[in-house]
Amino acid sequence: MRPTQAPFPATRLRRTRRTPGLRALVAETSLGVGDLIWPVFVRSGENIEEPVPSMPGVVRRSVDRVVEAAREAADLGIPAICLFPYTDAAGRTADCAEAWNPDNLSNRATRAIKAAVPDIAIMTDVALDPYSDTGHDGFVRDDEIVNDETVEALVKQALAQAEAGVDIIGPSDMMDGRIGAIRSALESAGHKDVLLLSYAAKYASAFYGPFRDAVGASGALKGDKRTYQMDAANSDEAMRLIERDLSEGADMVMVKPGMPYLDICRRAKDMFGAPTFAYQVSGEYAMIMAAAQNGWIDGDRAMAESLMAFKRAGCDGILTYFAPAMARALA
Ligand code: PBG
Repeated sequence: MRPTQAPFPATRLRRTRRTPGLRALVAETSLGVGDLIWPVFVRSGENIEEPVPSMPGVVRRSVDRVVEAAREAADLGIPAICLFPYTDAAGRTADCAEAWNPDNLSNRATRAIKAAVPDIAIMTDVALDPYSDTGHDGFVRDDEIVNDETVEALVKQALAQAEAGVDIIGPSDMMDGRIGAIRSALESAGHKDVLLLSYAAKYASAFYGPFRDAVGASGALKGDKRTYQMDAANSDEAMRLIERDLSEGADMVMVKPGMPYLDICRRAKDMFGAPTFAYQVSGEYAMIMAAAQNGWIDGDRAMAESLMAFKRAGCDGILTYFAPAMARALA
């Protein structure tokens, strides 16, 4: 302890915990609706909301329903929504061409939301996995996930998203050099204000399982993503990735998954002081929901506590499937 602290009983640390008002006065961190980004799944069709079984309470929405969801989110004060497409089988090919189709699901949803709900920021995902027949985030050549050829495709994908009107582009692919390549392409094309939120420290994780169900990539994925996503053993490497992405033009950086990597969040914030986000991923959400549904934990309290943890660890915001529920709880 610091020498300035008087010994007991002059110091009784319970004094500030006695009432809710005193606890609020000394609260060191706060969680607000302005800290939340809501990931949503988009599918084809009209007037459809289809449950994702491994993510209780989460659905895949047709574009018209995504627009409604965006309006609800904006009304709740949620500043940003993040789109993930569930691509039909025809859109999953070896050349991944659907990824830069101006009229793909993600780009159609972006235009529809921009027209109807202009005040919510739209974030999109840059990676090839929703469009590839292998489930990988890049092109596969002779069993290798090739880097440079993938980056060229990611640039085309990002430009199509910027053209559709997205506010924040989130490269989640973990290829080397993609932030610099996307940034310079955006500048050349006149999209100078599009933000890059880099999935800079993204770990090869078991916690993505339910997401891969939600976007239909689980069945397709051959092998794992360990040659491009990070090893859970590493922390210095995360700092190098974050530094690299900031130096290439990322405006904001992300650590993913969230709760198992709070040490990385804290270190990143302390070291770089850049806008830092965590992604509370599908498996984290599923664990809390499953335990709550079994009556093993109080789901609402676990939700709030898990999200406060990110703020305490230094994050500026959190991508979370709980965003609307947390926003309602905060209102
Ligand atoms: C893939 C991507 C993944 C997630 C977001 N983008 C999964 C993966 O890397 O396999 C996971 C999100 C979640 O689990 O909630 N580009």
